[in-house]
Amino acid sequence: VPWAGRRPGLEEVREHLGECTRCGLCQGRRTIVFGEGNPEADLLFVGEGPGEQEDRTGRPFVGRAGELLTQMIEKGIGIPRDEVYICNIVKCRPPQNRNPLPPEVAACRPFLDGQIQAVAPRVIVTLGKPAASLLLGRDIAITRVRGTWQDYQGIPLMPTLHPAYVLRQYTPENRRAVWEDLRAAHERSRG
Ligand code: URA
Repeated sequence: VPWAGRRPGLEEVREHLGECTRCGLCQGRRTIVFGEGNPEADLLFVGEGPGEQEDRTGRPFVGRAGELLTQMIEKGIGIPRDEVYICNIVKCRPPQNRNPLPPEVAACRPFLDGQIQAVAPRVIVTLGKPAASLLLGRDIAITRVRGTWQDYQGIPLMPTLHPAYVLRQYTPENRRAVWEDLRAAHERSRG
């Protein structure tokens, strides 16, 4: 990547992505969903990949799972959504919302890393198993590692449950788990 060894700007990362055709997901997508939010956010969220609403609008986390995430940020942590930065492992919608495949994840990795380098958040929050496994470099069990501090290249990382999972398993335990993880992340991001 052109920004190797230095901190890029988000615009530079977006520009390098271009109208990407680096993997097969480009064939089924309508819109690239790069990510959005405060370019100097203290908190950066990483989800899995765009769903249907995201693919239509070009914005991350705007479908049902997104509404829950937005609520958790605004009512749970108590900060406006646009104060944080939100992105995904892959920037194009996988067909039928399947999990992204290893070559798709690999093709998109430089752009996720570029976003993390550009924003340089104080804390990263991963949403669900794929994002936590990717950034920790091992196959994790999300229900075991959620709520425990991890490290990504020197940045404290808090893995939590994916909001789509919480919607499917809408239990007091799961809702409390995410709420607690987000509060811990917010607390730590304030130094
Ligand atoms: N919307 C996103 O942008 N990412 C997800 O992981 C799920 C829904």
